[in-house]
Amino acid sequence: MTTWTVTAIRESKGRRKLACLTAYDYALARFLDAAEIPMILVGDSLGMTVLGYETTLPVTVEQMLHHTAAVTRGVSRALVVADMPFLSYQVSPRQAVANAGRFLKEAGAGAVKVEGGTARAPTVRALIDNGIPVLGHIGLTPQSIRATGGYRVQGRKPEQAARLLEDARALAEAGVFALVVECVPAALGAEITAAVPVPTIGIGAGPDCDGQILVLHDLLGLFPDLTPKFARQYADLGASIGQAVRSYRADVEAGRFPGAENSY
Ligand code: KIV
Repeated sequence: MTTWTVTAIRESKGRRKLACLTAYDYALARFLDAAEIPMILVGDSLGMTVLGYETTLPVTVEQMLHHTAAVTRGVSRALVVADMPFLSYQVSPRQAVANAGRFLKEAGAGAVKVEGGTARAPTVRALIDNGIPVLGHIGLTPQSIRATGGYRVQGRKPEQAARLLEDARALAEAGVFALVVECVPAALGAEITAAVPVPTIGIGAGPDCDGQILVLHDLLGLFPDLTPKFARQYADLGASIGQAVRSYRADVEAGRFPGAENSY
């Protein structure tokens, strides 16, 4: 079985499709690693899926460190990427290096992810110059939700598409080892993929990206608050959990649990 490094991810372009997922804790990260998922992102989407915030904006570096460390404890083969939260890297490249370094030093991550295009290139360079591998993220960037006004498909207009292509090239040139492309028309996803030498990891960016990523809670049916068109639900664990908990409650209330086999 492969142990996934940033080099292995970068070199997979044109050779194999990468099926990536988010994870936020030890228990679920172990299942993903056992299923040979090559790259696990500890996404700041955890702010919504596990912490109950309305957006990703309130997520802190301390919260991300806590969850990233839990994930890395459960993973032995996948590359674990920690998402840098809002305002932990935008202020200056110096701030970005200081915060990103903590994800490698304290939480065992193999790389960090930052959102943004051409304007982010100097920060990406500073991180890489300091030995911190970077996953880029363009298209719909949820940390900019207050500026963009909503979770909308990006790059529909020709001038927006041209800007995104420019962003992708600038980030690749700055040294990202791969690039998340979120919520853009499939044709633009294909164009970006052809334009850069690093793997594109699509989420709502069509089938021609080099890989795909989904939020694990969408795939498992654990986050009914949002149902993006680009997600596919492969299991309904929310329903299974509800059923299991109701069965337990019924057993306790009827005196069927604990049984003799659960008693000392
Ligand atoms: O936070 C996250 O989970 C992400 C993915 C959706 C790419 O950024």
